[in-house]
Amino acid sequence: MFGKRTHQSSLPGGADVKERSATESPNPKPTAPSIVEPPRRAASESRHRESPSVPATAPVKQSGPTPRASGKRDEAFYERKSQVFAALIDTIDLSQLAGMDIEAAREEIRDIVNDIIAIKNYAMTIAEQEDMLADICNDVLGYGPLEPLLMRDDIADIMVNGAKQTFIEVNGKTIETNVQFRDNQQLLNICQRIVSQVGRRVDETSPICDARLPDGSRVNVIAPPLALDGAALTIRKFKKDKLTLDQLVKFGSITPEGAEILQIIGRVRCNIVISGGTGSGKTTLLNCMTHYIDSHERIVTCEDSAELQLQQPHVVRLETRPPNIEGEGAITMRDLVKNCLRMRPERIVVGEVRGPEVFDLLQAMNTGHDGSMGTIHANSPRECLNRIESMIAMGGYSLPSRTVKEIICGSVDVIVQAARLRDGSRRITHVTEVVGMEGDVIITQDLFVYEIQGEDANGRLIGKHRSTGIGRPKFWDKARYYGEEKRLATALDASSPDNERDGF
Ligand SMILES: Nc1ncnc2c1ncn2[C@@H]1O[C@H](COP(=O)(O)OP(=O)(O)OP(=O)(O)O)[C@@H](O)[C@H]1O
Ligand SMILES: [Mg+2]
Repeated sequence: MFGKRTHQSSLPGGADVKERSATESPNPKPTAPSIVEPPRRAASESRHRESPSVPATAPVKQSGPTPRASGKRDEAFYERKSQVFAALIDTIDLSQLAGMDIEAAREEIRDIVNDIIAIKNYAMTIAEQEDMLADICNDVLGYGPLEPLLMRDDIADIMVNGAKQTFIEVNGKTIETNVQFRDNQQLLNICQRIVSQVGRRVDETSPICDARLPDGSRVNVIAPPLALDGAALTIRKFKKDKLTLDQLVKFGSITPEGAEILQIIGRVRCNIVISGGTGSGKTTLLNCMTHYIDSHERIVTCEDSAELQLQQPHVVRLETRPPNIEGEGAITMRDLVKNCLRMRPERIVVGEVRGPEVFDLLQAMNTGHDGSMGTIHANSPRECLNRIESMIAMGGYSLPSRTVKEIICGSVDVIVQAARLRDGSRRITHVTEVVGMEGDVIITQDLFVYEIQGEDANGRLIGKHRSTGIGRPKFWDKARYYGEEKRLATALDASSPDNERDGF
């Protein structure tokens, strides 16, 4: 984790340590252990910090109340750690630490902590000393009890609900961990440290804040008095190695033929909306679909927090900006999408459409920016269309409902629906075309659907992707224009009901 941060020297590095000392210990000689009392974690967690490649297994609470820390981590450990910590703060010059890179700072802390342990004559094994050192480094240089979780690549989300409760999402399952903060103040200090890295502040006067960790992870903090039981911190871990369509096929999220059709849809400039609930895999899917955009196309991406990783050479990445502390200077998604149109984009990719910017995106789709894409929070393709309508209404346009529907119909070609099912698995449940209007109703046709058929002995859902047998989708002409009609015909044929494959 620290290793990662050192690469980002412009953000964290030196500045990082400075911020910490400013937030955690405004006084160079704080009273008592102003930064931490450690979380009740299994000892092995800390050691994962030393070998990031080792997947941590530790801090998962199995069931029932939080188990007590191992014998090694008893009250005496915490008492000693407090004393060593206080002595360290007395000894160390935090401003000098700020000037060092993380590894050098860690070495400095290691030397001093070892000296303190020797002077105090504590009887500790080397493993115990290492454990304590890791904890202290986490507290002084990092994100305290969160460090071991931040280092794990298998975690999708970290959800801290006040000082005493932390959940993680692993393999689609939400699990409670043993990670705890000493008190709500320590948690708030860590939230403060995180958001100060992007020049923001979280406190009673501005208790809601979005931020980003130096590694790109998306962070939301909501602090008291709005959060009643201590700050709530939510982190969507940034995955450097984004999932690919091939991996989604391997996970059973979609069939190989379905993936082939998604590739074709992405390449032949269909206008695509990816719909899904929270954490259903919308952004992942959007990222996958952008892989099939030709490399000569000029793409402009608009996001709240840059998550997409486009491979093409000609990409302009834009990010919204929240208001500053005085409530000014916000740049909304709508501002970005509008501005995009003046940037001669060939495709516009919007990370998440959640407001009136939908109108601008649809206009763009309608006016020569074919192949634009965005994600929308909705639970079915039909609901997605309704959401688009209501988001247009949010923009204050007083257009007749039929006109709005016609605009939608003329803009959106395909809706790809993602879902996180109740067993934690993620599936692409619909690939649906918008085909036209009948009276006042938008008509759609499903090319693929996922059907749940039951549940196995382990509670895993059994299901099947089923083709609806459409041989000539509406985007056939586009596919032909791009020379993809044969590939499309083959993929549709292979997935036709006569050649159906079993589910997963
Ligand atoms: N098909 C999949 N199989 C397994 N894991 C997946 C799949 N799709 C996405 N994930 C993982 O699920 C997590 C959430 O994915 P993602 O960020 O794409 O969801 P989202 O719908 O965009 O979430 P949000 O609504 O919060 O923006 C990520 O860690 C991602 O790697
Ligand atoms: Mg997303």
